Amino acid sequence: MKVVILGGAGFIGRKLAEKLTALGELKGREITSLHLVDIVEPLPLEAPFPVTRVALDLAKADNMAQAVPADSGAVYHLAAVVSGQAEAEFDTGMQANLFGTLNVLERCRALAEPPLVVFASSVAVYGGEIPLPIEDWYLLNPQTSYGTQKAIGELLVNDYSRKGFIDGRGLRLPTVTVRPGKPNAAASSFASSIFREPLQGEEAVCPVAPEATMWICSPRAVIANLVHAAEIEAEAWGKNRCLALPGLLASLGEMVEAMRKVAGDEPVSRIRWEPDPTIQKIVANWPADLKPEKALRLGFKADQSFEDNIRYFLEDDIRR
Ligand SMILES: NC(=O)c1ccc[n+]([C@@H]2O[C@H](COP(=O)([O-])OP(=O)(O)OC[C@H]3O[C@@H](n4cnc5c(N)ncnc54)[C@H](O)[C@@H]3O)[C@@H](O)[C@H]2O)c1
Repeated sequence: MKVVILGGAGFIGRKLAEKLTALGELKGREITSLHLVDIVEPLPLEAPFPVTRVALDLAKADNMAQAVPADSGAVYHLAAVVSGQAEAEFDTGMQANLFGTLNVLERCRALAEPPLVVFASSVAVYGGEIPLPIEDWYLLNPQTSYGTQKAIGELLVNDYSRKGFIDGRGLRLPTVTVRPGKPNAAASSFASSIFREPLQGEEAVCPVAPEATMWICSPRAVIANLVHAAEIEAEAWGKNRCLALPGLLASLGEMVEAMRKVAGDEPVSRIRWEPDPTIQKIVANWPADLKPEKALRLGFKADQSFEDNIRYFLEDDIRR
């Protein structure tokens, strides 16, 4: 089976490509090739099967035959402009996140065999006046352009699946931390940089108070859940192909104390707490507490503790 990863140069796309290469199979079928697509060229990847790497813009419908080859069996649609950028640049967000997603789904619909499609959504689809914890049946009421674009993507994944054009699955990802590399344009970027930089001897600023809470998961957990999403039988999803993934509810203060337990006082001393009212306001509106019963029933998993997230970062992204 050919597996396509759209957003294959991104943080999660790269880790997923490495995981699938190590597994060698998906949904009981041997992976015979991997097709990595991104607006920037994905890095080479050593694998026991052919890996193609393509740089193109998914917002352009003409690119779609190259983005999703005719023999694609599974398509991971992870490509997106992240939250901060989609809010600051409305047109860029609409092009990549809304029209890009529609182009992907239309191309999948045109294939002879309906492919399995896994779509990365976000807990940013929730918001407004809702009681916590958020349950599976709650109204999607995004309060950002990014969340709105993801919510529309979810509706389309459901409808294209209902029509039999694709076998779709949409996952509302928690904030994934600790993210390696450089800070990105996500409003949540600090939730990785306050661990990533201090663990590597650099200072970092935390713009929110220690009491602020987030719904989080590790890169390892999100990759395992992306693989699991493809493994579940179509019928088990019922009449909604999209769900919130399990995560951990943690305050920034608790997360920092977890880093102290794993790595000692020194990295913690490199964090400067400098509240930024703008970011504090954004974070206060994030849906942090969820009750993802359907996902748990279907076998999706959360991390055990944030200490694990710190250990995974040291093992997977530093020591390597
Ligand atoms: N990382 C998180 O905490 C998190 C949380 C919730 C949801 N998500 C979602 O998961 C997915 C992957 O996230 P990530 O953290 O790896 O982000 P990322 O920014 O590292 O990767 C996204 C990739 O999409 C590519 N892309 C953007 N616009 C494109 C276009 N028009 N055509 C082709 N490629 C384009 C980017 O170049 C980038 O490499 C995204 O859809 C994101 O919205 C991530």
